[in-house]
Amino acid sequence: MLKIDVVRSVAALRAATRPHRHDGKRIGLVPTMGALHQGHLELVKAARRHAGFVVATIFVNPLQFNPAEDLDAYPRDEATDLNLLAATGADLVFAPNVAEMYPKHFSTEVKVGGLTKYLDGPARPGHFEGVATVVTKLFNQAQPDIACFGEKDFQQLQVIRRLTRDLDLPIEIVPVPTVRDEDGLAMSSRNRYLTEKERIAAALLPASLRAAVADLQAGAAAAPILEKTRAALKSAGFAPIDYVELCDAETLQPLPAAREGSRLFAAAHLGRTRLIDNWPVL
Ligand code: PAF
Repeated sequence: MLKIDVVRSVAALRAATRPHRHDGKRIGLVPTMGALHQGHLELVKAARRHAGFVVATIFVNPLQFNPAEDLDAYPRDEATDLNLLAATGADLVFAPNVAEMYPKHFSTEVKVGGLTKYLDGPARPGHFEGVATVVTKLFNQAQPDIACFGEKDFQQLQVIRRLTRDLDLPIEIVPVPTVRDEDGLAMSSRNRYLTEKERIAAALLPASLRAAVADLQAGAAAAPILEKTRAALKSAGFAPIDYVELCDAETLQPLPAAREGSRLFAAAHLGRTRLIDNWPVL
């Protein structure tokens, strides 16, 4: 068992980071909900490259789960997570409980408009308000100079960039490329819900998106390509398919054909697991 310092209150977090900030170190933040995989560890490594003191957070945020989603079933394994974070070079872990994050009568919400109208916005009502609220709190609690987020949750990354800019938070948001298994499936804590058979079928998500990207890059109109991709996912057993969309990467507005800065997005369910993925097009 490797050793890493863990703090559970905002006061202890501030006390633990203060001396490093006074020493002139940049503070790096890696927010997570635990159940860590290689994708998270790449966030820690990126933070290490940008900061002298790296704080990882573990908090399964109830605000970003809507009532139809199973918050209680979300995987939790703190002992393994702490070991992985220590081995990857995090300096401190902030793992608050729900009462510390949301004291009695908590009633403030951070809502990012515009780009949350699309994709996961309508598919997961309340999700981005929950993410924006907890990330704003984590930023205020840890006061990092930089914070790392994965491109796998691309819409989340854009929501966080937007709120950081709009609220003038003095934090550099560092995007980190998606980490994939050998067959192309994007790593996700939720992949552990997949049965053996579903795990094999899951590889069809990145494969069909890559095929669509190639067609879109060749100049094909989006609508028939998106329809073909939905049909391929359906016949591989994905149901329901929440969306397969070509969007502007900045505004996330759907596009009729590929153009500079477009990106392909998909979200679909396989058994009890919801998978998402995205690829740059042009
Ligand atoms: O990406 C996640 O794990 C979560 O949405 C985040 C950013 C830690 C906020 O709870």
